[in-house]
Amino acid sequence: MKHPNTCVVGLQWGDEGKGRITDLLAPQFDLVVRYQGGGNAGHTIVEKDKFILHLVPSGILHPDIQCVIGNGVVVDPELLLQEIQELKSRGVSVAGRLFLSERAHLVFPFHKQLDALQESQGRKIGTTGRGIGPCYTDKIARLGIRVVDLYTPEHLETRLRQVVESKNRLLASYDQGPLDFAGILEAARTDAARLAPYVADTVKLLHEAIAGGKSVLFEGAQGSLLDVDLGTYPYVTSSNSTTCGIAAGLGIPPRSVQKVLGVVKAYTTRVGEGPFPTELANPEGDRIREKGKEYGATTGRPRRCGWFDAVAGRYAVMINGVDTLAITMLDVLGGFERIKICTEYRCGNERIRDFPADLSRLEACQPQYIELAGWSDAISQARQADEIPVQAKTFLDTVSSLLGAPIEIVSVGAHRDHVIHLKGS
Ligand code: GDP
Ligand code: IMO
Ligand code: MG
Repeated sequence: MKHPNTCVVGLQWGDEGKGRITDLLAPQFDLVVRYQGGGNAGHTIVEKDKFILHLVPSGILHPDIQCVIGNGVVVDPELLLQEIQELKSRGVSVAGRLFLSERAHLVFPFHKQLDALQESQGRKIGTTGRGIGPCYTDKIARLGIRVVDLYTPEHLETRLRQVVESKNRLLASYDQGPLDFAGILEAARTDAARLAPYVADTVKLLHEAIAGGKSVLFEGAQGSLLDVDLGTYPYVTSSNSTTCGIAAGLGIPPRSVQKVLGVVKAYTTRVGEGPFPTELANPEGDRIREKGKEYGATTGRPRRCGWFDAVAGRYAVMINGVDTLAITMLDVLGGFERIKICTEYRCGNERIRDFPADLSRLEACQPQYIELAGWSDAISQARQADEIPVQAKTFLDTVSSLLGAPIEIVSVGAHRDHVIHLKGS
């Protein structure tokens, strides 16, 4: 029977383990598709070796699966070509099964330069430095250059000249010299030739696949709380990382998404600036970081760590329309005597159960915890539901009931096989 078209979406601030869950589920699907974000994503898959994917969808390690980079993704050609090359050198061929939307916007080196300047001289968001904000800014300002523009040489030159002139004015405001237009144009022409084998009308491709009864796995990047509309604005990324981004990011109707699998860690992490109510800026947080190897897959930055936040989780379940959950990193909490879950916030005398939009209010919120008994490290050996220690089972049941969604997958290690599929979900 055909598998329902499913979205794997992160419910926290990113790095929930979306890549490993996508890789795990991919064999049940015909296509794996990215709909937003760009090289800011770092999706890790541990098979025999470790792979970290930034732009290529996490289905690529399965040779029969087609992978699509949709129009909503912003693509740095150098990064994509480098990623393709690295996959090839490690025995993963992408030829004939990686498709890049002709409508996707391109990230240029000046986007990365501006990202760095805005971070060092403006308000610090703690970005990944991959040029994401400046590229999406150009897209919305109708200044962006799309993949398709690379193949109409005169148009490319005119458009690029306009963009470069506008960037030169902006760079001057940061006391930076002008860009090398000829060099940028030359690089774009070289990229055009190298990207050509992958460029496709992915809107048509996806419509035909869906109409033809193929099943699609949508892979979200970043996390729901980093969504530009629904996250902790302005400490967010510049795209719709929730399921709300799928239709616009791929050119398909919302009803094409038939199931939503929300991915959460058994605790919470965040990279970069911004409010994080359950953060543990103390040795307990350090312990989670070291045990979970919580260092950024894209930038290597230490991730901020804290307890599971069910207020944020409930909000993310609601906005994404989550049907079932995957809980990752249950092994990382192994060996902790007591484990906390935040069930609500308190602000002064007020109880808060809905995730606040106002950041100053969110910053003032004090998490209210329940405490559960911990479990041992042996959990990493569990492969079946009846091998989950009773304390961990209580934790899972509590998370499921607080979030209002059943748990389908439990992950107890980074390796592809370190999972437990729960029945009845
Ligand atoms: P993504 O961005 O959501 O794909 O997640 P990342 O790849 O950035 O971060 C998740 C990290 O946790 C990676 O290093 C994974 O290899 C690792 N990982 C995934 N699931 C588990 C798990 O259940 N246990 C442990 N210990 N590590 C995991
Ligand atoms: P994956 O897909 C975690 C964060 C950055 C910063 C903010 C804006 O691996 O879960 P940006 O470079 O997007 O302009 O940065 O968003 N961020 C992520 N954090 N995982 C990610 O991706 C992230 N992508 C962006 O740290 O706070
Ligand atoms: Mg990541």
